[in-house]
This record gives sequence, C-alpha cells and structure tokens, in this order.
Amino acid sequence: MESLNHKSALAETHLVLLHPDRRIGADMARWRQSGGGKALARAVQDPAAVREEIRLAELRGLGGSGFPAWRKWDAVAAELPKPDKYLVVNGNEDEPGTFKDRLLLEETPHQVIEGAVVAALAIGANRVVFYINPDLARSLAAMRTALEQWRTSDLPALASTALGKPLQLELLPGSGHYIGGEETASMEWVEGRFPFPRGKPPYPAQSGVHGCPTLINNVETLANVPHIVVHGAAWFRALGKAPGTGTKLYSLSGDVLHPGVFELPMGTSLRELIFVHGGGLLSGKPLKAVFTGGPSSTLLTPADLDVALDFDSLRTRGSNLGTGAMIVISEGTGIVKRVAEYERFFAHSSCGQCNSCKVGTATMSRLLDRIDTGCGTAADLASLENLCTMLPNSGRCHLINGAVQLLDSAFHHFHDEFRQALR
Ligand SMILES: Cc1cc2nc3c(=O)[nH]c(=O)nc-3n(C[C@H](O)[C@H](O)[C@H](O)COP(=O)(O)O)c2cc1C
Ligand code: SF4
Repeated sequence: MESLNHKSALAETHLVLLHPDRRIGADMARWRQSGGGKALARAVQDPAAVREEIRLAELRGLGGSGFPAWRKWDAVAAELPKPDKYLVVNGNEDEPGTFKDRLLLEETPHQVIEGAVVAALAIGANRVVFYINPDLARSLAAMRTALEQWRTSDLPALASTALGKPLQLELLPGSGHYIGGEETASMEWVEGRFPFPRGKPPYPAQSGVHGCPTLINNVETLANVPHIVVHGAAWFRALGKAPGTGTKLYSLSGDVLHPGVFELPMGTSLRELIFVHGGGLLSGKPLKAVFTGGPSSTLLTPADLDVALDFDSLRTRGSNLGTGAMIVISEGTGIVKRVAEYERFFAHSSCGQCNSCKVGTATMSRLLDRIDTGCGTAADLASLENLCTMLPNSGRCHLINGAVQLLDSAFHHFHDEFRQALR
C-alpha cells in the first residue's frame, strides 16, 4: 500500500494536549502565562459544575477501558470521606507499544497536575497520588520539579480553602511491574504492599486506598480535564469524529516510517494514522496486521483500514481501542512468533494469584513457543483453542482476558499460519 501525502517529518502532532504552549516541561511561570490555572479557578467556584461538564463532554477513561469518566467521578463524589478520599493518577504505563503518558508527564506536567487537582475538587478528594512507572526517569524528574513549583505557589491554598481541608499531593514511583497498572493493584502499592490486584467488590469508589473512597484515572484522561472546564463540553465533543469525542494520543510503532505519538481527533481512521501521519510502512511491504491497544487486545487487518479508532466503533467490530497503541506489522512477519513473544510477556507479568491465569498464561506461552519452533502438534493447537474458551473472565483482573483476546484474534485472522507451523 502506498503512503498517502505525509504531513510533515515530525513524528508527533498536537491539537490540545500536545500543543506547543503546553510542551514546556516543569515551568510554572510559562504554564500560567499560557492560561494554566484558569480551570482550577473555575473548579473552586463550582465543583459540581465541573462534573456536569465532564459528563456532557463524554470524556472516556483513556487508560484502556474507555469507561465514561463521569460515572466513576459521580460514584466517588457521592461517598463520604473515611476520613480521606483519594485520587490515584495512573502513570504506570508499561504495556508494550504504549508511550503516550510519559510524554504528557515529561513535557506537560502542570497540565496533568491541574487536571488532577480539578478532578480532586470535583469529587471532594483531599489526597492525590501521582503513581508513575519508576523506569520513566524523565517523567518523574519533571513531575518532581513541577510539584515543588506547585507547592510554593498560591494554588494549594486556593484548592484547600475550596475543599475545606488541606489538599495533599504525593509523587509515588510504582513497583516496575506491568500488573501494577491495574487499578486495585496500584492501591495495594500505595498502601505499601506488593501490587497484587484485589477482588471486586468492593469497588474503589466505595473502598479503595486504606478503605477510603478512591477515584483512579489515567494520566491522559486527567490531562483533558482543564481544557474541558475552560472551553466547555461542546468544544471538546466537536474535536472528535462522532461517535468519538475530543482527541486521542495514538502511540504508533512497528513497521512504520514515522513512529511516534500522534494527537488526533478521536475516531481518526487507521488508514489516516498509518499512511498519513505514520508515513506508511518503513519496509515498503504491504500491511499485514495491526495490534490495536498494544498486545492485550485484538488484531486488525487491511480490511479494517477505514475503521474509526474510537472505543465504540472498534467494539462493534469485536476489537478494542485499549490505550490507543497501534503496532504495525507487514507481510512477511510471522504471526506465530509475534504472538508467542507477547504471550511470554503475559506469562511473565501474571502475578500468580489466580491459578487459571498463572498456569493458563504459562501454558499458552509454552505451547506457542513449541509451535513457533516447529515442534508443535495438532493436539497442542487444540489445547490452545480450548484455553481460549476456558480462560476468559477466570481471573481477578483483566490481564488474563487480554492474553486470551490476543490469541483468539490471531486464530480468527491467521489460523492457517498456526496450522502450517505445526511439525
Ligand atoms: C494488567 C493491567 C495493567 C494496566 N495498566 C494500566 C496503566 O499502566 N495505566 C493506566 O492508566 N491503566 C492501566 N490499566 C487500567 C486500569 O485498571 C484502570 O482501568 C485505569 O487506570 C482507569 O483509568 P481511566 O478510567 O482514566 O482509563 C491496567 C489494567 C490491567 C488489567
Ligand atoms: S488474573 Fe492474573 S494477573 Fe490478574 S490477579 Fe489473577 S493471576 Fe494476577
């Protein structure tokens, strides 16, 4: 497939979140000159109006689930503090192919902090934890400096007065585990334990960190908040391509000429992302498939090039936007090998609490390695197919579902390759 007009040699585009006015690192003076702090001033006046604006904007959770943000916000707002209320800002970002949050944290830390503080006011949270992947040294450094600047400014007093108690902001490096990004696992880590996911219910909105009502949102989700508050829900919705609203940071990688993070209207087509912004395939070969949402989702093929990359459009095709990571592969790339690599990642990342996940991911990985090295049998393939029907929803968290979705989708589109790889 030929590349369409490539817009620029830049690997990153920007509309709102990555606008040059906001890509200034930890520089509070410049951030305020460019309008920083306006959303907070509005939230202080009317926190309930902020929740309504987020609802009307149809902001979705951008950490993978696409869950409507306002629902979780309202649920936590309805709870009484016990004695605290928490907001955890999820910057664990560890999924292969996803590298958007680190850019926001590193280059626009004040935008993320303002979004979090506005959210905290809207739900009545007095403790905000910025929970960041410990390997993202530059993100952590920018956040550390930005939080220092915040503490010596007039803004904490403004927020604390509106809350009626001191607002505490904490920067917490995570454990370095992929599973630590799962919402209840992050809460375990905040409490000082290994990040094992918890069973639900109770849900974090009722009983999260230290048993207190807790909201957890992804970095990108919260970075959108100041803009919605300042410009309004209608402005935000119009940025997207319906049914998508707002913009999305797509992490594009793999066999593309210009990999990078692209901020585009939510609902941009896969074709535009790869062939306009990504410049087409680096190898010049035809497109074979795209791992959408990183490996813990499904595969799209050339037949899906005109699909809109938003939560609802992908769901109707049995796929998932996930974190918006698109990993491109071209003809000639072996699907079996690639899936085997990703399943090894899941087996390695399983926390081991649920037998089905611990044994299931290890078995899938072992069988796939056997097939990939030409030693697999028809019985091995049948076992894998069985696992795809037995394992979904058998664990405490979604890691197991991600591992199964990937294999299931690879079977759906490329079953022949698995058969041909058998001994
Ligand atoms: C294994 C696993 C890893 C996850 N890692 C992350 C992560 O690194 N960052 C993130 O925001 N959400 C991650 N999530 C999703 C979170 O559980 C949760 O849905 C999200 O933080 C909620 O924020 P949102 O509503 O703004 O998307 C992960 C989920 C699972 C199952
Ligand atoms: S499903 Fe897997 S990763 Fe999730 S809690 Fe169970 S064992 Fe751990």
